[in-house]
Amino acid sequence: MHRSAGILFGAALLSSSLAACSNSNGSSTATTTTAATSAPAKAKTTKVMASSNGLAVYTTNCSTCHQSDGKGAIGPPLAGNPVVTGDANKVIHIVNGGLTGKISVNGKSFNGTMPAWKGTLSTSDIAAVITYIRSSWGNKAGPVTSAQVASTP
Ligand code: HEC
Repeated sequence: MHRSAGILFGAALLSSSLAACSNSNGSSTATTTTAATSAPAKAKTTKVMASSNGLAVYTTNCSTCHQSDGKGAIGPPLAGNPVVTGDANKVIHIVNGGLTGKISVNGKSFNGTMPAWKGTLSTSDIAAVITYIRSSWGNKAGPVTSAQVASTP
């Protein structure tokens, strides 16, 4: 008695939700339409997030020293810096492990210290921010993936 009542109840729920679905195809399309379009919209958002996340990571963690325009202050400029747009593995290595000692950027000397970012930032954040600095302020170099960041010492 109990069991069949449960099954009946379940079936009633199922058919009523099916009915709700097919109803919404008609007059009130809200439910079905939202469900159908929100899936691809989400996929798109994720893609946009990956690149705009680089800007967010940069603004939070790097712009104090390198400035939002990449022209540098405490840190050297990243805009127009051939190291930044050069060998991706070298850039990953620098950002992962930090940098200290004398360097020269476009003929100007710097001798400061940048902390290591590995451990502070996730590999995907590091990938996003490196992709960002390699493709901003006129820099034109290819993206870097989390897998590359994870496998580069
Ligand atoms: C506390 C200041 C500071 C912060 C914050 C900082 N950096 Fe640096 N960065 C430096 C300094 C200083 C150097 C140069 C180190 C030296 O003189 O050896 C440097 C060097 C670099 C270089 C190498 C440039 C070259 O020509 O070799 C890259 C790439 C870089 N930083 C990227 C980043 C990224 C990306 C972030 C954010 C995740 C970041 N930095 C955050 C201070 C900073």
